[in-house]
Amino acid sequence: MFAARRSINLFQKRAFSASASQASKVTVLGAGGGIGQPLSLLMKLNPRVTQLALYDIRGGPGVAADLSHINTNSTVTGYSPDEAGLADALKDAEIVLIPAGVPRKPGMTRDDLFNTNASIVRDLAKAAAKASPNANILVISNPVNSTVPIVSEVFKAAGVYNPKRLFGVTTLDVVRASRFISQVQKTDPNGEKVPVIGGHSGVTIVPLLSQSNHASLSGEARDALVNRIQFGGDEVVKAKDGAGSATLSMAMAGARFAESLLRAAQGEKGIIEPTFVDSPLFKDQGIDFFASRVELGPNGAEKIHEVGPINEYEQKLLDACLVDLKKNIEKGVAFVKANP
Ligand code: NAD
Ligand code: LMR
Repeated sequence: MFAARRSINLFQKRAFSASASQASKVTVLGAGGGIGQPLSLLMKLNPRVTQLALYDIRGGPGVAADLSHINTNSTVTGYSPDEAGLADALKDAEIVLIPAGVPRKPGMTRDDLFNTNASIVRDLAKAAAKASPNANILVISNPVNSTVPIVSEVFKAAGVYNPKRLFGVTTLDVVRASRFISQVQKTDPNGEKVPVIGGHSGVTIVPLLSQSNHASLSGEARDALVNRIQFGGDEVVKAKDGAGSATLSMAMAGARFAESLLRAAQGEKGIIEPTFVDSPLFKDQGIDFFASRVELGPNGAEKIHEVGPINEYEQKLLDACLVDLKKNIEKGVAFVKANP
């Protein structure tokens, strides 16, 4: 009798978790933009996604109509700001990707975007705190070092903050690092894993070459490579010459991070991605957010890995990172306190 009941319960549990894990709604806020469109396309091509909700202040329904003709199983719905568009787009989302906001032009830093993007991200976060408080929130909008703390403050104020479900997407730095090192070393980028820690702008981007396959790189070759990884975004901004920043590589990076979260939510183990999260690593120095290797699981960020052994050169990079990062984080927090 007991055994029979137990097997029914196990069956029910499996059936429940299978259907729960197979229904994955992904929402993109800023879906009409340079990143939003290719990112939405990649999400439409992902068989783990069952529902795709595309919101933008302009163009959401058009992008959705276009993608909805692609013969994969997911449904695609476009939303605009009228009526309950944003709340409906967010409702029941498992993942909310946020690439809404303005990109850089040549000569600008990511921090120069703060004045415009802070309020965009704050307002979207307010909507998410109401309509999808349990979703994984993936922040792409720059400056990530400040926009992630903004989302956290908004969620705290709404009483729904779960630090395990908030991620600054720094995957592009990791993607660049493996590509750039492979170009120097003439290797296959797929086999190159370079942890990139810290934050997502200039000197706050800290690649740990000592933890890569090429720990012995030194001198000018190492310095040039580190500089290229830290300022890779500027290369694209310059090449696009006023037409924006990285969109296609960013879409790939955002889709990779979302896919990692979906795999982890569906029970796959050992999925580790560097990402900018609420982290204990430097809280004693007043730095509440930090990117390091994070193991993902059904509850979001399951385990935040330590920085690990680094050399003297990397320690100097890290010291410089922490100075800027602290200011960037404080700026985001102060913004929400002054402009709730
Ligand atoms: P874009 O201008 O092409 O697209 C932005 C989109 O956001 C537009 O369609 C716009 O209508 C929309 N938008 C603006 N305000 C909105 C709001 N309140 N609600 C919903 N949508 C809104 O810009 P892009 O090239 O796609 O870049 C978007 C952001 O991503 C920028 O801030 C850029 O700096 C950042 N970015 C981050 C990374 C990263 O690694 N994290 C990489 C590249 C770009
Ligand atoms: C990037 O790294 O490409 C993005 O953060 C966009 C930018 O402004 O450089």
